[in-house]
Parts: sequence; structure tokens; C-alpha cells
Amino acid sequence: MIFENVILIGFMGAGKTEIGKKLAEKLKMTYIDTDSVIEKEQGMSINDIFEKSGEACFRDMESRVLDSLKGTNKRVISTGGGMILRPENVKKMKALGPLVLLWAEPEVVYERIKDMGTRPLLNVEDPKKKIVEILELRAPIYKSVADLEVDTSRLSTEEACNKIIKFLKRSK
Ligand code: S3P
Repeated sequence: MIFENVILIGFMGAGKTEIGKKLAEKLKMTYIDTDSVIEKEQGMSINDIFEKSGEACFRDMESRVLDSLKGTNKRVISTGGGMILRPENVKKMKALGPLVLLWAEPEVVYERIKDMGTRPLLNVEDPKKKIVEILELRAPIYKSVADLEVDTSRLSTEEACNKIIKFLKRSK
């Protein structure tokens, strides 16, 4: 099977990292995570980047990572949950390959991320409420840009990967 890249989009806790790594293994592609690229480049955690430079600056960094991926192939690219917020990022991602939305219900997101403390946007008094609020704002964007949507709320990593692979085979 030869595809360009596969781009995973979706909210925090939707399973992009776990599913992305497994998918890359199955497809014999390279896994990359835009947050990790940024952390490595900056020598700082995402939390520290948000604190020191602010969200807008982080969003610029995200766009630059997409620029640096232009022309690459055979990668499973896991993107930060807010990557879709800029229309130009969506355009850049679409040029790299199909966009697979990993979705999870708000309660599932909360259970998955509650003890992590690594998501600056959710370091608030009521993270549950915040998840619902941000998801409501973003859901229409996620859903309108995605080529495939997979609800991971009740799927194993294996099941989610199989759904994605089936879709990729069909679209070839
Ligand atoms: C963010 C999601 C995070 C990270 C940053 C902002 C968001 O990535 O990019 O904390 O705006 O949803 P993950 O979706 O990989 O957690």
C-alpha cells in the first residue's frame, strides 16, 4: 500500500498518540507528533510554551511545523487538538494527505486526561466544563474538514486502526 501521509486530527484525549503510533507500525510508516516536534525545537514543554509565549505564539509554531512537513510522505502525523483552528493549517494538512478525525465523548476525554496535567487549556478549575465548551466550538470544524471520522470512545486501539486502514484501502 502506498499513501502519502495520514493526518490525525481531533481533541485532546481522542487517542491520536496511541492510535497514531500503532497505525504507523501497521502501515510501516513513520509516526510524528507535531506537539513533540515543537517541544523538541523549543526545548520546553507545551505547558511552558503557553505560559512563557502564549497560545498565539504556539499556534504560529504549529503552522511552521506543517510548513516543514511539505513534500514528506509515508508518515502518520498526529496533530495538536487546536491545529484545525487556522484555515490555512487545514489547507496545509489537506495537501499532505487524508484527515482522519479521532473523536471521543467529553466524559471519555475527561477520564483519559484528568490526571495528566499536560494540557494548558484544561488546567482550569472545572476541566469537565471546559472540555464541553471547547468541543462545542470545535466540533463543527473537526467534522467539516475530516475525510473520515472514528469515534474512539468505545474502541480499542486495534479496532480504531482497522477502521482507518479499511478507509485508506477503499480510497486508493
Ligand atoms: C491543544 C491540544 C494539545 C496541545 C496544546 C493545545 C488544543 O495537543 O497542542 O495543549 O488546543 O486542543 P493534544 O491534542 O495532542 O493533546
